[in-house]
Amino acid sequence: MAETTNTIKHVASPLARQTLLDNKLTRPVAGKRPIALLPWLQVVKIGGRAIMDRGAEAILPLVEEIRKLLPEHRLLILTGAGIRARHLYGVGLDLGLPVGSLAPLAASEAGQNGHILAALLASEGVSYIEHPTIANQLAIHLTAARAVIGSAFPPYHHHEFPTSRIPMHRADTGAFLIADALGAAGLTIVEDVDGVYTADPKGQDAAKAKLLGETSFEALAKQEGTLPFDRALVEVMANARHISRVQVINGLVPGRLTAALRGHHVGSIITTGAKAD
Ligand SMILES: Nc1ncnc2c1ncn2[C@@H]1O[C@H](COP(=O)(O)OP(=O)(O)OP(=O)(O)O)[C@@H](O)[C@H]1O
Ligand SMILES: [Mg+2]
Repeated sequence: MAETTNTIKHVASPLARQTLLDNKLTRPVAGKRPIALLPWLQVVKIGGRAIMDRGAEAILPLVEEIRKLLPEHRLLILTGAGIRARHLYGVGLDLGLPVGSLAPLAASEAGQNGHILAALLASEGVSYIEHPTIANQLAIHLTAARAVIGSAFPPYHHHEFPTSRIPMHRADTGAFLIADALGAAGLTIVEDVDGVYTADPKGQDAAKAKLLGETSFEALAKQEGTLPFDRALVEVMANARHISRVQVINGLVPGRLTAALRGHHVGSIITTGAKAD
């Protein structure tokens, strides 16, 4: 009996006798780059407001472009939440709902956009899959079909950080987190502007806004004002393990997504903290 207790207490493990709070001790074991689970996967985040809310005019040409891309790539297409989530935040905040209650509601709006896109691509074998399926069965789904669609929100739900009343981890952060965790080949963020500018190209300082062809997470962290994606994305990029660059493109211009997935520079390329191979 005593022997069994001893064996259990002395499980051989490089971290068995260490506190997980000391970086110097954990780094030799935990500092290595993780394996890339799906190195052939391309992740595409489609803007809820930028693309989906515009309806047929913006969605149908993009669906046609994606249809033509399917033989070339295996895609995880993730949709943002758009205007319905903005309305939801307004009502929810007025009612005093905590951020952890707002996050899953907004995520479900992103999911609705995903369902719309999946319906339009169903004839190609594309379907909408929920978060647990993305987490556990993405590989089998992508073996059966060239692309699948999901909500771009990360599933923090009631665990969302209470940093602000509006969830800080939204669609762009979610798309990046899953792409990096899977060790995907790339992440493309589809917007309604040509990329990231020095200021909102549709805002008050539009005349001064300059397109940043290439930039980095460090430079964007210092840039004041708004960005065309969640601020939290910049922080997450700093600690990326696989995705070394993200391209932000204009999905309203035909051919941009095709070119981006072929590795061409057609928008803003943002380098992250991950070391390229
Ligand atoms: N620095 C910037 N560079 C480029 N666009 C910016 C910048 N700041 C603000 N924007 C604006 O961001 C808009 C896109 O908005 P937003 O990112 O909220 O939409 P979205 O990606 O569709 O959102 P979601 O998917 O979360 O619903 C662009 O149309 C642009 O006007
Ligand atoms: Mg955006």
